[in-house]
Amino acid sequence: MSPIDSTIPYYPVNDFGPLMKGLVIGGVGIVHVFLAQFAIGGGMLMWYFERLGQRGQPDARSFVDGYFKVLVLVSFVVGALTGVAMWFTTIQVGARTIGLMIDEFHWLWATEWVWFAVEITAGYAFYRYGPRLAGPARLRLLALYALASWMSLLWINGILAWQLTPGRWLDGGGIWAGFFNPSFWPSLLFRTAVSTTLGALAGCIVINTMDIPRDRRAVLIRRASRFAAPIAAMPLLALWFLAVLPSDSRSWLLGGSMPMTMFVGVAAGASLLVGGYVIVGLIAQRLYINGATATLLLGLAFGATAAGEFVREGARKPYTVRGVLYSTSIRPDEVAALRAAGATARDPYPLRDRYPTEQLARGARVERALCDACHTMRGANALVELTRTWTDDQLRLNLAKLQRTKGFMPPFAGNALDVEALVQLLRWERADRPAGFAAPAASPDVLAQIARWLDEAGTAPAGEAR
Ligand code: HEC
Repeated sequence: MSPIDSTIPYYPVNDFGPLMKGLVIGGVGIVHVFLAQFAIGGGMLMWYFERLGQRGQPDARSFVDGYFKVLVLVSFVVGALTGVAMWFTTIQVGARTIGLMIDEFHWLWATEWVWFAVEITAGYAFYRYGPRLAGPARLRLLALYALASWMSLLWINGILAWQLTPGRWLDGGGIWAGFFNPSFWPSLLFRTAVSTTLGALAGCIVINTMDIPRDRRAVLIRRASRFAAPIAAMPLLALWFLAVLPSDSRSWLLGGSMPMTMFVGVAAGASLLVGGYVIVGLIAQRLYINGATATLLLGLAFGATAAGEFVREGARKPYTVRGVLYSTSIRPDEVAALRAAGATARDPYPLRDRYPTEQLARGARVERALCDACHTMRGANALVELTRTWTDDQLRLNLAKLQRTKGFMPPFAGNALDVEALVQLLRWERADRPAGFAAPAASPDVLAQIARWLDEAGTAPAGEAR
C-alpha cells in the first residue's frame, strides 16, 4: 500500500475473481508442501533401501530401481514448478511482503536455491545414471539428494517461520535471530517427521505394485514402516509449536475462531489416524498393508497437511510478517499517516470495473487497498455476505473500528470519507449494482461521527505485536 515514507512503489492487489487470493495461494501451497515433503522423505527412503539392497536384500534394490524413483522424480519436478507458482501468486497479492523477505534474507534464500539446485541435479543424475553406477557412487548420490532436499527445507523453513514468529529480530537481533526464530525448530522437526511418514506411505503403495510374493513384500513393508515412526513425536512437536505461537493466534486456534479450531481438529484427527495405524498396526503388530489402505492413509495425510497449512497461514493474521507488515502490505506505523491522507491518495492504478459515481469508485479503491488481500466482494469470504444484514451505522462503526470488529483484521488505514465510500459501495453491491444509485449525501455529522470512531479505535493493532 502507498508507503508514504518509503521508496517502495505501491502495487495493487491482483484480483482472482470469486476466489479469494488466500485460497489460490493456499491451494497451490498445499500441493507444493505435500509434494516437496514427500520428495524429501522419499529420497531418504531410497537411500535406506539402497543400503539394504547393497547389504544383500535384492528386493530392496529392485524397489529403488522401480516406480518409486519415478514418483520421487515427478514430485520434485512438480514440487519445483508449484514452488515457482507460489512466488508468482504471492507476489501478485503481497509484492511488498515478498520484497521485504528478499531484502532481509537475500543470501539465505540464495543458499536455499543452491541446495535446491543440488537436490535437482543429484536426483536427476540418479534417475538417469543410477542403473549404470557402482554401489558406493549410488549410495553417495542418494545421500546427497536426501541431504540437499532436507537442507532446502531447513533454509526455507527459517524464512517462513520468521513471518509467523519474528522473535528477537523485532528488537534488531539481525538476520540470524530472525532465521532461528521461536517456531524454527518445532516446525522444522514437524515437517521432517511428516516427510518421512509420506515417504514411507508412498513406499508401501509402490511395494504393493512389485511383482514378488506377498511374504517378500511384507519384509519390505516392515522396513518402510519403520521410516514412519517419527510420526509418534508429532503430538509433542505440535504442542511445542502451539507454545511458541503469539497468545492471540493461539487463542484463535483453541476456540477463538471456529474455522481455525475445526481445521486444527481435522489436522490432529487425521494425523492421529495415520499415526495410530502406523504405530499400532504396522510397527507394533507388524500388519501387512495393501496398496489401497496405504493410498487411503496417504490421502488422510494430504488432508492433515492441507488443514495444517491453513491453520499456520491463518494464525499469522492480520500480518504477513508479524508486527512488521499487515496482509494489506501496510506497515503498522503508516496507518496514522494514511488516516490523514486517505487510503487511496497514492494509488495511480485504474479500476477494472466501471462505477456510476465517484464515491463508489473511491470505495472500490479503498476495498482494493484495505480489504482485498483477505476478502472478495461476492466470492470467498464475501464482504457483501458478511455485511448483508447490517444497517448503515453498524457498517460505519464496524469498518471504522475494524481491528476491534475482529482482532485478525488490521486497523482501518484511511479517513472518514474512505469509510463512507466503502459503506456506500457495500450498499450498492448489496442492491445488485443498480445503474442509477443515489447515495445519500454524507452529512458532516455522519463524517464527524465516523472520524470519532476512527479515533476511538486508534491506529494500533488489536493484538500484541508478538
Ligand atoms: C488480514 C486479513 C483481513 C483484512 C485485511 C480484512 N479482513 Fe475482514 N475479515 C477477515 C477474516 C478472516 C474474517 C472472518 C470471516 C468469518 O468469520 O467468516 C473477517 C471478517 C470481516 C467481517 C465480518 C465481521 C463479523 O464480526 O461478522 C467484515 C464486515 C469484514 N471482515 C470487513 C472487512 C473490510 C471492510 C475490510 C477492509 C477495510 C477487511 N475486512 C479487511 C480478514 C480480513
